[in-house]
Amino acid sequence: MNILIIGSGGREHALAWKLKQSPKVGGLFISPGNAGTAQVGKNVNLNIFDHQTIINLSREKNIDMVVIGPDDALASGLTDSLQSVGINAFGPTKKAAEVEWSKSFAKDLMKRLNIPTAQSEEFTQAESAKEYLKTQTYPLVIKADGLALGKGVVIANSYDEASAAIDQMMTKKTFSSAGDTIIIEEFLIGEEISTHAFCDGENAVMFPVSQDHKRIFDNDQGPNTGGMGTVAPFPVADGTLDLIKQKVVLPILKELKKTGREFKGVLFPGIMLTKDGPKVLEFNARFGDPETQSYMRILKTDLVDILLACLNGELNKTTIEWAENKSACCVVLASKGYPGNYPKGLPIEGIDMAEKTDGVVVFHAGTKEVENTIITNGGRVLGVSATGDNLFEALKKAYAAIDLINFNGKQFRNDIG
Ligand code: AMP
Ligand code: GLY
Repeated sequence: MNILIIGSGGREHALAWKLKQSPKVGGLFISPGNAGTAQVGKNVNLNIFDHQTIINLSREKNIDMVVIGPDDALASGLTDSLQSVGINAFGPTKKAAEVEWSKSFAKDLMKRLNIPTAQSEEFTQAESAKEYLKTQTYPLVIKADGLALGKGVVIANSYDEASAAIDQMMTKKTFSSAGDTIIIEEFLIGEEISTHAFCDGENAVMFPVSQDHKRIFDNDQGPNTGGMGTVAPFPVADGTLDLIKQKVVLPILKELKKTGREFKGVLFPGIMLTKDGPKVLEFNARFGDPETQSYMRILKTDLVDILLACLNGELNKTTIEWAENKSACCVVLASKGYPGNYPKGLPIEGIDMAEKTDGVVVFHAGTKEVENTIITNGGRVLGVSATGDNLFEALKKAYAAIDLINFNGKQFRNDIG
């Protein structure tokens, strides 16, 4: 089979790395890709929002399946465009992915299906949102309805902070139309986990639980990022994962199917484990990043078989195995200044040495190769992943490998896991 992966992050490198191990995969293409994906397949630098060029490439390379990584590509309807001309695409249609690209849609769905989530109100006018703020206690969470590169959620500790967030989203339009509608919701307290389910429209198979670390600095300080590091499996109480499958994932799949939005792909509910039980923070309609960089290290089953089972509605006939008694972690190395402005084009040294560490694979995110040198090309630059017989061992290997990698301004969290 020939496969085309859409995206350029650590997630896409991890997917490419895993797919490359399948005896079923012949040609492997990544668009646009990064310096790491170029080592496992062939990068094709295209604009992923120009659906026709992706269709043309798929035809030219006889692609049997397109695997779509990023949320905005799904929200643009790339799956629909590919499917309409008979090309297999892994990832939900635009209508099914609305659970991610509209928080207002997701909230309505959860309210209707009695899925536990934070209490919330929706606003389309800044004045009425601010009136509501006066009646609330803090902290409060302000969310832009649409996609905002992971920056559309503000945890406000006072009226002033909340009001400033509303001005940014609704008046100054920092996230353009993503902030036309906002959600103001209750601040939930607890341990945050990432859950993922392979979905075939009806059936779901849960991945092990993982945990991301969203804030830029140690001890969960500083602004939110796309994610600074993950571990999997993350230990939770017995029954928690099945509860999330029964109370969250399956009801969503059933309702989406009933309303003509059949969901095939990966559904990723972000969950807060509160004292009143698991509550949904948000839905993603794709593989998490950096979660996938840990997951692919412990997935035993051929990923091609799983993706095809999702597309063909055959998950109930498929066994999905994860390495037993193994843990994985991924620690992100980011550019100085991320998640704000950061420099690009700085040379990176030591990746080869780091990969010689037992159990370590370095996934690339914002990297590019120029004249035989790998340089930085984004906020999150590398994901250093490792496996071990337990989490402690995996983390020890990852951090030892990190010491061997250098680029100017390299920043990472010391407390992953
Ligand atoms: P979201 O994109 O909705 O997952 O929000 C991004 C991050 O903000 C989450 O991963 C949480 O860490 C945090 N967050 C979102 N909603 C809440 C909430 N209601 N209470 C506490 N933290 C939240
Ligand atoms: N790691 C969080 C995300 O992919 O949204």
